[in-house]
Amino acid sequence: MDVRFYARLMNTTSRNATSSTAGPAAGTAVNPLLDAYALPRLTLPNRVVMAPMTRLRADRRAVPRPVMAEYYAQRAGAGLIVSEGIAPSPTGQQYLNQPGLFTEEQVEAWRRVTDAVHAAGGRIFAQIMHAGRNGHPANRQDGGVPLAPSAVRAPGPLHTLDGKVDSVVPRAMTTAEVRQAVTDHADAARAAIRAGFDGVEVHGANSYLPHQFLADNTNLRTDRYGGDTAGRIRFAVEVTEAVADAVGAERMGLRIAPGNPQFGMVERDPAPVYRELLAAVDPLGLAYLHVTDDPAYPALDDLRPRWSGTLVGNTGEHEETTPESAARLVADGRTDLVSVGRPYISNPDAVERIAAGIPWARIREKNFHYISGPRGYVDYPPAATAG
Ligand SMILES: Cc1cc2nc3c(=O)[nH]c(=O)nc-3n(C[C@H](O)[C@H](O)[C@H](O)COP(=O)(O)O)c2cc1C
Repeated sequence: MDVRFYARLMNTTSRNATSSTAGPAAGTAVNPLLDAYALPRLTLPNRVVMAPMTRLRADRRAVPRPVMAEYYAQRAGAGLIVSEGIAPSPTGQQYLNQPGLFTEEQVEAWRRVTDAVHAAGGRIFAQIMHAGRNGHPANRQDGGVPLAPSAVRAPGPLHTLDGKVDSVVPRAMTTAEVRQAVTDHADAARAAIRAGFDGVEVHGANSYLPHQFLADNTNLRTDRYGGDTAGRIRFAVEVTEAVADAVGAERMGLRIAPGNPQFGMVERDPAPVYRELLAAVDPLGLAYLHVTDDPAYPALDDLRPRWSGTLVGNTGEHEETTPESAARLVADGRTDLVSVGRPYISNPDAVERIAAGIPWARIREKNFHYISGPRGYVDYPPAATAG
């Protein structure tokens, strides 16, 4: 870590004047990531958000296992943790061992996770993630065909517990099924609050269901959820409104990744679509908007002036976040908070390392991101005890 770099950042002030708390003391080099930040209902001790990361450690009934409480509690030093993507319904499930929030057994198991995070001094939001066309009958408890805005197949292959399989053509949702998916998001948000989460994040990014409604190639609908920009944004807007109604806008965030081509998404001209989406949801007063940047469309810079609330920025998967790139995003006023993904796999104490000037450890074995069990999951030690 280069202390001179932080010395240059000393006079940085947040664009969000109401949310910045203690500023750096005169004459000291303070990393802006270590400033506290006040969300409407929650004060974060620093500007680092642990980004949502699917890790597939739940059981086959989508119930979180105890090892997940250990994993998240180890990472309680983050200003805010956003959980891995959680299925709001059996229809929304992408993988069998992805956790859900649609049974009371799941709610009770999540309660043990949120209790562990809070006991360790942390804060945690639940990310609600509906797979849409990214689902597969082999990954559904009921063996059902995935539902999506239109019958457009995702590029395969997809992971199952029995190895990789070809994707299937999803069934286009009826208008009633679209309304049901809106309701499922709101019900899952209520379940998340019952499970002790501090809030929820709707996953409208990275090719999941709201993104499938927004993108050009996955939404060929002719009803009110398709067609022009107003139709394409409608599902994301209705989900956001329904979740805000269910748990309070100040307890929810929305994640978007405009232009992200992940899993075969095509958005020829994202700017007008996302500008209109923001114009519709900004007045609701959400806790934050979580934006993933993309080289094809610099969403952070384009959308920053169009969002009056808190912005969480992420550099995207093409460029792994470093302590320097994260600090620069905040110092340059491009975002209020920064979400950090992959480094949190191998650095449960990512923030403490920033404060102590200790470099982030590298991931040892990428093969262990998605297997069950503790290996590659809870066996990365904090710096003080790293061997
Ligand atoms: C193993 C893994 C799982 C991920 N799962 C999710 C997820 O469930 N929901 C989501 O919104 N993003 C997910 N992402 C994307 C991350 O949140 C983040 O945007 C990405 O890793 C880029 O940030 P980084 O450079 O700090 O890793 C995942 C990324 C990785 C590496």
